[in-house]
Amino acid sequence: MEKIRKNAFSQIADVKNLEEEELLRVSLLGRKGALTSILRSLKELPEAERKKVGEGANRLRQEIGAALDEKKRQVEEMAREGVLKKEWLDVTRPGVKQERGHLHPITKVLREAISIFSAMGFEVAEGPEVETEYYNFDALNIPANHPARDMWDTFWLRSNQKEIPNPKSQIPNSSGLLLRTHTSPVQIRYMEKHNPPIRIIAPGLTYRYEATDASHDFQFWQLEGLMVDKNVSIASFKAIIQEFFSKLFKSKIKIRLRPSYFPFVEPGFEVDLSCPYCKEKGCSICKKTGWLEIVGAGMVHPDVFKAAGYNPRNVQGFAFGFGFDRIVMMKYKIPDIRFLRSGDLRFLKQF
Ligand code: FA5
Repeated sequence: MEKIRKNAFSQIADVKNLEEEELLRVSLLGRKGALTSILRSLKELPEAERKKVGEGANRLRQEIGAALDEKKRQVEEMAREGVLKKEWLDVTRPGVKQERGHLHPITKVLREAISIFSAMGFEVAEGPEVETEYYNFDALNIPANHPARDMWDTFWLRSNQKEIPNPKSQIPNSSGLLLRTHTSPVQIRYMEKHNPPIRIIAPGLTYRYEATDASHDFQFWQLEGLMVDKNVSIASFKAIIQEFFSKLFKSKIKIRLRPSYFPFVEPGFEVDLSCPYCKEKGCSICKKTGWLEIVGAGMVHPDVFKAAGYNPRNVQGFAFGFGFDRIVMMKYKIPDIRFLRSGDLRFLKQF
């Protein structure tokens, strides 16, 4: 029995996991184990020894059982610790940084522009980017054979629908749909549905079939403005546009009007701004002239009022349209308009 005990305890000490413990338990205490065979053979012993051996064997059985139980507890605990070690989580470790997007520079400046104009009582109006020939040209006093249509090289849309072709259309088989070349059609659409007084701005995308360069894209933003009332003059326009640009560039801007031609205004003019960067001294932004050209404007033509259903005798108004990308470029000193729609993160992350 002493041999069995030594052997058992040294084997128990070697146990490393639950399977080994289970196998050992069977071999030590099971039906085929040495102790069991001692207990089974008790009846063959003389009466005097039977009791002693029986008691001893039972005690040993209990001892081995207890030692196995203790071992089992230990290996179970070791297993638990192993799992914990493997799945250990340091909650104080800094996480993987999630990159956050941000607004596009055009959106940022657009929101600023909208808030400056809203403070002056202007509402935002919208129109479709796919426009009809009528709103883009005809209603704006640019009839089919008018040379002014050459000013806007247009993306025409050929429609599959069986629409009646516009006999005045510039291209054969066109149902007269195009990608708007400017935001001015919104003037007509808005006036058709509203009565004066009107104060709106209409920012939006416009398209021209043009070769691109650093200051021209085939897709670009314009911001249209329209104010119509009984006594609206060029002086009103000057005051509003000067206030707008001074607020946008956070410096006092001077305005210069030069006569120009747009069929939907009379008189028409181009507006120059004093360069906010060099204060008219001349720099790379203003191409050494001290002035920046961005706005086309004028007093709304009587024919445009007529097209919108107004009596031109009763109302006066000014309209303007500027290239919004160019304003964003000036504000952030962006050298090439094509960066704005490049989707290049090296560019976008700078804002
Ligand atoms: C017009 O589009 C007129 N609708 C503006 C207007 C509105 C005049 C109301 C009078 C009354 P123009 O073609 O000049 O005008 O374009 C206006 C501005 O759009 C330009 O000054 C320029 O800043 C911008 N622009 C024109 N073509 C491009 C282009 N390819 N890429 C980027 N900006 C452009």
